[in-house]
Amino acid sequence: MAIVTTTQMFKDAYAGGYAIGAFNVNNMEIIQGITEAAKELNAPLILQVSAGARKYANHTYLMKLIEAAVAETGLPIAVHLDHGDTFELCKSCIDGGFTSVMIDGSHHSFEDNIKLTKQVVEYAHAKGVCVEGELGRLAGIEDAVNVSSEDASYTRPEEVQEFVERTGVDSLAIAIGTSHGAFKFKPGQKPQLRFDILEEVERRLPGFPIVLHGASSVIPEYVKMINENGGKMDDAIGIPEDMLRKAASMAVCKINIDSDLRLAMTGTIRKHFAENPSHFDPRQYLAPAREAIKGMVAHKIKDVLGCDGKAK
Ligand code: G3H
Ligand code: 13P
Ligand code: ZN
Repeated sequence: MAIVTTTQMFKDAYAGGYAIGAFNVNNMEIIQGITEAAKELNAPLILQVSAGARKYANHTYLMKLIEAAVAETGLPIAVHLDHGDTFELCKSCIDGGFTSVMIDGSHHSFEDNIKLTKQVVEYAHAKGVCVEGELGRLAGIEDAVNVSSEDASYTRPEEVQEFVERTGVDSLAIAIGTSHGAFKFKPGQKPQLRFDILEEVERRLPGFPIVLHGASSVIPEYVKMINENGGKMDDAIGIPEDMLRKAASMAVCKINIDSDLRLAMTGTIRKHFAENPSHFDPRQYLAPAREAIKGMVAHKIKDVLGCDGKAK
């Protein structure tokens, strides 16, 4: 099995009423934890790389690590650029072997978003690469850019057909109330998603794959582990897993998860040092962190995404 595109994955996910997990990767242990879980459950995977991750770990290192994961697991794995913000960044990832890119023009006007997205689609499709666009704006933090909840906006369903037709994108990220990071709702606020918007988008774009960003559930077990071991993450709150499961059974074919990986890794390492203050070999704390990521991803695949057993 070589690195694949998302085309067949999304077709199968849409028809089967499940979603593919798109997990953000930054280093070897994260890639190993995610791909070992997927291998045990025979699940298709998307590994996604943000501009910040690419700067941190280097494009070639990440590609080689992902190629190693494909060789080790034999799974269909797509490599995706998360939140590309310029044509040049998307082009560089396409030229460097990514099979999918996101061009996030959601902070531009509708017309400028279309223009930029179309430019990326033309370049990507000529090279057999898939493109994800975005309409609507999520709150939260991406690459140190903080979008306040006042600046966030829901996707307008009446715009989606025109956007998809004029740009030629292969999938569309929409804003229905999810947000990036570990603090998705205000203290005391009841988590809610606009399923009415998702339904209307689905009606207007039958069979078309929809993407949900900001979809970590901020697993309480790991928040507790952080708080009990010297950290401070009071009021961390994510998207309830039953809502994600519902979205996966609808038109949502790709669910993005980064914060839950960070929490599993950080919680486990904090606990490890609290229990073993004299340890200083990185393998001593990275091995349990990798195991925690594996367990967390296995849970997502089986209980939230529903893509276990779906790798072809
Ligand atoms: O949506 C953002 C992802 O969580 C990636 O975060 O840009 O800090 O790598 P990052
Ligand atoms: P979370 O912060 O909810 O994990 O979202 C990640 C994401 O959307 C990456 O694009
Ligand atoms: Zn995102």
